[in-house]
Amino acid sequence: MAEWVRLCGADEAPEEGCVKEAEAAGVAVCLAKIDGELRALDNWCPHRRAPLGQGWLEGDSVVCPWHAWRFDTLSGIAEPPEKARVDVLPVRVEGDDVLIDIA
Ligand code: FES
Repeated sequence: MAEWVRLCGADEAPEEGCVKEAEAAGVAVCLAKIDGELRALDNWCPHRRAPLGQGWLEGDSVVCPWHAWRFDTLSGIAEPPEKARVDVLPVRVEGDDVLIDIA
């Protein structure tokens, strides 16, 4: 069952091609905007727990700011040779709010 919570205001969402950190209900999120679409991932890199929301985008991937592991923003899967994955959270804009499903 979905549990949608407000992550931030729509006007606080990142610009196209950028990421930012946000938090909702104790869940830290890396929020990205690619091709006009918002994507939300677990903010903590599974390597050494760097905040992915302080990284940057290259194509469809977010690059970790500490050791440059790359994670696909749709699947959360790390690019080889790394074997890791971050959770991807459903995200939507409703009115003036950005919501994520933390269920
Ligand atoms: S902490 Fe993210 S690649 Fe090392």
